[in-house]
Amino acid sequence: MTDKWATAFEAAGPMAFYDEVMRPAIFDPVARVVLDDLALRPGERLLDVATGPGSLALPAAELLGPTGRVTGCDISAAMLALAKGKGPVPDSAPITWLETPACPLEGVADESHDVATCQQGLQFFPDRVGALREMRRALVPGGRLAIAVWSAIDDSPLFDGLGEVVRDVFGEEPRNRYASGPWGLPDPGALAAAVSEAGFRDVRVERHTIDAVFPEGLAVMLPMLNLSPVGDETGEADEDQRRRIDEALERRLGSMVGDDGAVRSPLVTNVAFAVR
Ligand SMILES: C[S@@+](CC[C@H](N)C(=O)[O-])C[C@H]1O[C@@H](n2cnc3c(N)ncnc32)[C@H](O)[C@@H]1O
Repeated sequence: MTDKWATAFEAAGPMAFYDEVMRPAIFDPVARVVLDDLALRPGERLLDVATGPGSLALPAAELLGPTGRVTGCDISAAMLALAKGKGPVPDSAPITWLETPACPLEGVADESHDVATCQQGLQFFPDRVGALREMRRALVPGGRLAIAVWSAIDDSPLFDGLGEVVRDVFGEEPRNRYASGPWGLPDPGALAAAVSEAGFRDVRVERHTIDAVFPEGLAVMLPMLNLSPVGDETGEADEDQRRRIDEALERRLGSMVGDDGAVRSPLVTNVAFAVR
């Protein structure tokens, strides 16, 4: 299941949707929370694992300035192509984009970074502790770690509502498969334990709520499901299933649509911070 979800990030078309719709609504706000807490200093070197289209790496590069350095890693060439396509930002740290799994982190030298981040990626890795050990290897002694992972799906009304849409139309097993993907590491205690097991100290987990806004409204919810672990079902829905999806979206998410047509929902993420 984890591998299947990872392969959803390989195709180029859906990645543009991720970058244009999901990143601004969901992932940029999470990056702001993580970066606020990290209080980066100009000149530091930051490693972002499972960087996607650079949701965290790009604003980090601005904060680090031209004397800093950023490495953005991802297993998906399509995601990295989007990140690279944005080009260098003036007065920012230079960014090296690396195509590599999180474990092992190929091409990342020992003790080569001051800060390591991973935003909404750890839950998908086949070897989570192994990936955290790789981030630790890449950090200097005293280097800082920040790992963001979604909290339980029913903490976030939009995600939960989409899960109910999946249940309404496709049944129990697809709904559970949907929920165990991005929301597959919901327990802050389990997150802290994994970070400690990888050898980090001073581990703490914070719970943050972001306010997601989708100005496009309900129209972008089906494409979002197509990028989820139930993308095979929703992407190939027949006419009757499409009608039932539309009805279920109205029923489950209608209360989140404002007068302006935008969908708004609080979304809850855990963020683990630790020190090497
Ligand atoms: C939900 S996206 C998050 C991307 C980015 N951090 C952000 O905040 O927008 C998950 C990312 O994890 C990457 N990924 C999944 N499995 C991976 C693995 N085993 N190693 C490295 N990256 C992986 C995917 O390619 C995808 O870019």
